[in-house]
Amino acid sequence: RTVLVLNGPNLGRLGSREPDVYGSANLDDLRALLTAATPDDVTVDLRQTDDEAELIHWLYEAVDTGTPVVLNPAAFTHYSYALRDAAALVTKAGIPLVEVHISNPHARETFRHTSVVSAVATGVIAGFGFDSYRLAVDYIVRLG
Ligand code: DQA
Repeated sequence: RTVLVLNGPNLGRLGSREPDVYGSANLDDLRALLTAATPDDVTVDLRQTDDEAELIHWLYEAVDTGTPVVLNPAAFTHYSYALRDAAALVTKAGIPLVEVHISNPHARETFRHTSVVSAVATGVIAGFGFDSYRLAVDYIVRLG
């Protein structure tokens, strides 16, 4: 089994980007944490892109392969209807998609209070640092 863990723009800079908000660990640390926290028969396929089209195509891949998704859409969260529509393809196909955020966007600037993705996600986990991802992966693993 595979879980796709997809990360949007600027998350490749984790570790050095606003460590007061996002912590000082990077995506390799996140990959290691999730792999360690996941049963051996589950593969964590963690990816990051700054490119909206690439992220959308990864969601098509999830649909075509029936692979569950943990998605941190980063800033696309707040305005990308294209990403939202692609996320809807996933959940409408009956494939779980959990929206995650490292920070709690509701405790931050007003523009972060809106997610155009949440309404088509299976659920949302935000504000727990990298544990947001871990909780999301745990949920998917427990689905079996
Ligand atoms: C984020 C929150 C977004 O508002 C922001 O644009 C990000 C990261 C988070 O994980 O807390 O890039 O999705």
